[in-house]
Amino acid sequence: MSAKAIRILGIESSCDETAAAVVEDGKRVLSDVIASQIDVHAVYGGVVPEIASRKHTECISQVVAEALDKAKMTASDLDYIAVTKGPGLVGALLVGVSYAKGLSYASKKPLLAVNHIEAHIGANFIENDIEPPFVCLVASGGHTHLVVVKNGFNGFEYEVCGRTKDDAAGEAFDKVARALGLGYPGGPLIDKLAGTGDSQAINFPRANVTGYDFSFSGVKSAVLNYLNKCNMQNTEYNKADVAASFQAALIDVLTTNSVKLCKDLGLNKLALAGGVSVNSSLRSAMQDICDKSGIRLYIPSPRYCTDNAVMIASSAYFTRTPAGLDLNAIPNIYF
Ligand code: KG4
Ligand code: ZN
Repeated sequence: MSAKAIRILGIESSCDETAAAVVEDGKRVLSDVIASQIDVHAVYGGVVPEIASRKHTECISQVVAEALDKAKMTASDLDYIAVTKGPGLVGALLVGVSYAKGLSYASKKPLLAVNHIEAHIGANFIENDIEPPFVCLVASGGHTHLVVVKNGFNGFEYEVCGRTKDDAAGEAFDKVARALGLGYPGGPLIDKLAGTGDSQAINFPRANVTGYDFSFSGVKSAVLNYLNKCNMQNTEYNKADVAASFQAALIDVLTTNSVKLCKDLGLNKLALAGGVSVNSSLRSAMQDICDKSGIRLYIPSPRYCTDNAVMIASSAYFTRTPAGLDLNAIPNIYF
């Protein structure tokens, strides 16, 4: 007789997406609902924390109801309720944490707490059966880390081997996009524009940091200086070339460090995670270098790279970190 399926409702509200999803046994997605606030924040050129919290409060009940509805169940059919405890914006996190605690109390279903960055890594287990140990590059709006995942299916066990010393990769994309007047969020806009530009037009610097760490503030400043100089000298610049050249510099460092860590550790599996992993040039450049180096590359579908609740429910299934009604949001939780 097969074991009873475990159904987990995941709730995510760490930044500007209110999301809820029901996932069975960590892999079978029964529903996946995301209410994005991007349009609201785009007016300000970035996420406004206070507005984010209010928007989460406005729509969380509806998002959770829709997730349960689409999964054709009520809270009483669930085995657990999982929620992002951090890292993220404290007010935004608190909305999800408070809602999850209320639902857990009312439905008498146990609560599980999830680390948002671990969940980004765990997104690799949704569609693939990637066996640890493997190297994972996490590149999101707030984090850029190189991690060795030692265990995944039976609780997360990992070691952080490299991290950014300053800006995160997504942050650099967003800041450069703003300087180019492209809008928010910048990553997808640069990705698209870069497709029409020459990636070798301008030689932006590749920071050479010791070990497996990253630094992206230098390349970001170099782009800003380039644009300022052009503006001051009244010379025209080609936005697509700037976007493509900046993107190439950033991707160069991401791919080089990731493959170096794989080779140094003798690991032939590499996974990507986080919003920047949606980037089409990063995906193809990483595939090329992995093919040449005998490394198997795993990348979640774009929907599971950016913030979503499927990764929260799935991660909770594998980590099962219990939480009580005293659970608090931890905005700067270690990662
Ligand atoms: O993982 P994520 O959705 O949220 C955080 O946890 O931060 O990542 C969001 C980041 C933003 O900085 C966004 O510009 C970037 O991911 N991003 C991209 C692309 N799509 C999203 N960066 C480059 N190319 C993309 N196609
Ligand atoms: Zn995220």
